[in-house]
Amino acid sequence: MSDLNDLIDRLPKAELHLHIEGSLEPELMFELAERNGVAIPFKSVDEIRAAYDFSNLQDFLDIYYVGMNVLQTEQDFFDLTWAYLQRAAADTVRHVEIFFDPQGHTDRGIAFGTVISGIDRALKQGEAELGISSRLIMCFLRHLSEEAAFETLAQAEPHLDLIHGVGLDSSEMGHPPSKFERVFARAGELGLKRVAHAGEEGPPAYVSEALDLLRIDRLDHGNRSLEDAELVERLVQSEMTLTVCPLSNLRLCGVERLADHPLKRMLALGLKVMVNSDDPAYFGGYVNENFRQTAAAIDLTRDEIITLARNSFTGSFLDDAAIARHLADIDRISLSPA
Ligand code: ADE
Ligand code: ZN
Repeated sequence: MSDLNDLIDRLPKAELHLHIEGSLEPELMFELAERNGVAIPFKSVDEIRAAYDFSNLQDFLDIYYVGMNVLQTEQDFFDLTWAYLQRAAADTVRHVEIFFDPQGHTDRGIAFGTVISGIDRALKQGEAELGISSRLIMCFLRHLSEEAAFETLAQAEPHLDLIHGVGLDSSEMGHPPSKFERVFARAGELGLKRVAHAGEEGPPAYVSEALDLLRIDRLDHGNRSLEDAELVERLVQSEMTLTVCPLSNLRLCGVERLADHPLKRMLALGLKVMVNSDDPAYFGGYVNENFRQTAAAIDLTRDEIITLARNSFTGSFLDDAAIARHLADIDRISLSPA
């Protein structure tokens, strides 16, 4: 195991499913609450961590939206993103495709420009100082209306040079992808990539809708696709990347124990899966911790771990030359002795 942990520590990897607001550690939440004079319903960092005991996605989201109230200024969004990038660098993450939830901020009166400029400033510093390349993906909150999503897309238009794609997140059940077909079509016309959370809690039909109606380039989670053999075959044949988040699935009770996680089965079926932390401050681990705990729980092999790292780059929105460079680095590191 220590050999595999050493490999995990050294392998270059990309993270493609990371909500930047979900990387808000309790310590920074407290610091920003004080700095901005914002009240939070917790008296200590320990009390915050104790509250992170979720039964399902909605349980988590209720706390996630409270936590983000402390984010007020451009500097706050910079500090949040910079903290994540430093943590990612320690896990040999070389490329990140980061989600942000503008509606979680604009609905509280924070300007879209404040949010994106703080995040972007940190991403540029991350490239310059940490050598981490990045893309930014703007998510629509699916529990809100189609009209609100269109408004958000309009607010994003002056900033499209900084935004690579759109995504769909928040409460899945009862909010099928079809609700956002038109806004995703418009995003496509604007030249944006399209991704969506589907099959995290929702049924396989939501995954099919994301493919057929939202015309997604990548599938976030997708776990419940396994309930439909034809859908699995379609995902395999189309080489669709699935951004899997094992500790998130555990903490949101998608699996009872990590040993029950379907990642190994997904690999065996030929699905193009890779590993992510989703909301690491809430789910107990950044990307290497996801790799380590999952590898131990389901006996991932050395070759499977290397495949997951390779998929993280081939499933990214990097250009072919950059992907080839990262794959060559993976080959070099996986062949060299520790
Ligand atoms: N927003 C932040 N994390 C999420 C998740 N795991 N699923 C849906 N929406 C989210
Ligand atoms: Zn997510």
